[in-house]
Amino acid sequence: MSEVNRQWRLVRLVDGMPSPADWRLEEHPVPEPEPGSFLARALLLDVAPYMRARIAPIRNYAAGVEPGAVMIGGAVARIVASRAPGWNEGDLVVTDFGFGWQDYAVLRPEAVRRVDTKLAPPEAWLDVLGLNGATAWFALFETGALRPGDRVLVSAAAGSVGQLAGQLAALAGAEPYAVTSTSAKLEWCLSLGYRGGIAHRETEDLASALRALLPRGIDLFFDNTAGPIHDAVLQNLATHARIVLVGTVSLADRLGRPDIGPRFFREILVARARIEGFLILDFEKRWPEAWTRLADLLRAGRIRTRYDILEGLERTPEAFLRVLTGQNLGKQLVRVAST
Ligand SMILES: NC(=O)c1ccc[n+]([C@@H]2O[C@H](COP(=O)([O-])OP(=O)(O)OC[C@H]3O[C@@H](n4cnc5c(N)ncnc54)[C@H](OP(=O)(O)O)[C@@H]3O)[C@@H](O)[C@H]2O)c1
Repeated sequence: MSEVNRQWRLVRLVDGMPSPADWRLEEHPVPEPEPGSFLARALLLDVAPYMRARIAPIRNYAAGVEPGAVMIGGAVARIVASRAPGWNEGDLVVTDFGFGWQDYAVLRPEAVRRVDTKLAPPEAWLDVLGLNGATAWFALFETGALRPGDRVLVSAAAGSVGQLAGQLAALAGAEPYAVTSTSAKLEWCLSLGYRGGIAHRETEDLASALRALLPRGIDLFFDNTAGPIHDAVLQNLATHARIVLVGTVSLADRLGRPDIGPRFFREILVARARIEGFLILDFEKRWPEAWTRLADLLRAGRIRTRYDILEGLERTPEAFLRVLTGQNLGKQLVRVAST
């Protein structure tokens, strides 16, 4: 076991697009577990868009990271020393938020779940069997009230949440359509069962392209991005459309500033549409419900996922910035150690 715990600590709250200089890599002693807790070593670290708001000087649904503190984040980790009965050296665990961008963390059993690699590889526990799987599930089936036959448009469709949302919609008898930045990403979505889609960086007039793709309009918009994609979709709603606002990743460089675009709000009235914000924390008690169903689908080979993994703790800020700039294909992770 290393004597040193490398940690990415936040240097400052970030207004505008984050850059690697917003974190500093420091070395600290490896902590000791208290009675009832254990020391775990990170194998895989999570990087995800929600982290952007946690380092911004804005009102949010959860507390942010203070400058000087270790950056927030989940991990798949191996227990290396335990003072918690029933939790043994060598056990593999996953924590959704409570690890941080570092090599080692002391954790309590109630903050983790066991990782069963017979069911799915370690990566899956920060993706389809983690918060993002539950997000795709509840945003579609609860907030989105998905119905068979719905024409469902998903933005950031080749990402972690997006690749699952499309497959789940198709399995439920709906017609999923993708918005991605590039045609390479769109091809991946089509291979998953998306019926069609648009590569927005390769399209001049997104609203017109959507109209050509979906002339009868969009019944359910699974909005992962906000911004110009959202504006284009508002002009293409079917009557009684539902918009589930899941994420605002396109605002990463201007969080907290007014999101000014063309105001198509009358489209909500014309379509008698409903728009609702979604937060996975509101479903916490029900996460296992989604994970059980998702695990069944995985086991049956009915859903597929793709991972995009950078090697080395030192590349964690870079991995995070890949997500905010659309360079990832599938779930972005960082491999810190292999055993
Ligand atoms: N509300 C909740 O409880 C909850 C929970 C989990 C996740 N989420 C949200 O779900 C969304 C997807 O999360 P994820 O973890 O699955 O990330 P992800 O989709 O794997 O990665 C983010 C994707 O966002 C797209 N993107 C980045 N900058 C963009 C821009 N300027 N304009 C348009 N698209 C841009 C990129 O896809 P393209 O290259 O295809 O554009 C990128 O790959 C995020 O908004 C996240 O905050 C919300």
